[in-house]
Amino acid sequence: MKYERFILWNGKMLDTTNEQPHIDLEERGLQFGDGVYEVIRVYKGTLHLLDPHITRLYRSMEEMELTLSLSKAELIASLYELLAKNQFQEDGIIYLQISRGVQPRVHTFSFDATPTIYAYIRKKERPALWIEYGIRAITEPDVRWLRCDIKSLNLIPNVLASTKAERKGCKEALLVRNGIVTEGSHSNFFLVKNGTLYTHPANHLILNGIVRQYIISLAHTLHIPLQEESFRVHDVYKADECFFTGTTFEVMPLTHLDGTAIQNGQVGPITKLLQKTFMQSFSTSSVFWS
Ligand SMILES: Cc1ncc(COP(=O)(O)O)c(C=O)c1O
Repeated sequence: MKYERFILWNGKMLDTTNEQPHIDLEERGLQFGDGVYEVIRVYKGTLHLLDPHITRLYRSMEEMELTLSLSKAELIASLYELLAKNQFQEDGIIYLQISRGVQPRVHTFSFDATPTIYAYIRKKERPALWIEYGIRAITEPDVRWLRCDIKSLNLIPNVLASTKAERKGCKEALLVRNGIVTEGSHSNFFLVKNGTLYTHPANHLILNGIVRQYIISLAHTLHIPLQEESFRVHDVYKADECFFTGTTFEVMPLTHLDGTAIQNGQVGPITKLLQKTFMQSFSTSSVFWS
């Protein structure tokens, strides 16, 4: 299955049935992973949590000294145009990438390259069964660089960890640095102990997920105590509930870690409450909630 027909390509709407995007061999995104990206959820043709994604994107660019001539408002307008042009009404994602541009290959970048920007839509269903019953994960050493707060294209440690998890029949890898649980390979992580939610602080060791931020705001609204505090793997085994969060994961319960069940592999009540409240942010009809 391919992405939808019209793509946003360097300021133009390209019809991929007539024309394919051309990527130069010396595009720095290709050669160095010198760029940033966002994955934005689309529910029934509607962009979800768009503004925080765009804010994070511009922050990532700033941290990478990557300057785009497009304003946030212009970028947002072109994403709406992308949806409209494809007449997209389903569940999917928009993948949006901005890389440094084309330059003769040397490590040092100069500021005269024009950034390459593209975005496309791909259909993606909600992982409803995993959300209902939970998933299994493995632990993996967190060997990433120390600027995990930047959503850069450099994802090899995440890619390797995720692939290892899949080979072991698991849906996610829980990353551990110096004994501390940081986050998943493509998600953030929370645990519940004695009614309080815990998650790693939003510093340089994790990506401050948009769904993470949303869940933190929901916890405040629902009067669930929350601590942005680090914890260890043995705390996960002793937790009352655990879940990952992410744009495509939503609120994803963790039932087994490295083959051991957490709380008999059941999805806990606080996780269910957050799932239900999260779902209300994009849907008024209920799918499996009663
Ligand atoms: C390393 C990492 N952490 C966390 C997340 C979750 O972020 P978000 O909620 O913005 O999707 C992602 C998403 O891809 C990720 O790659």
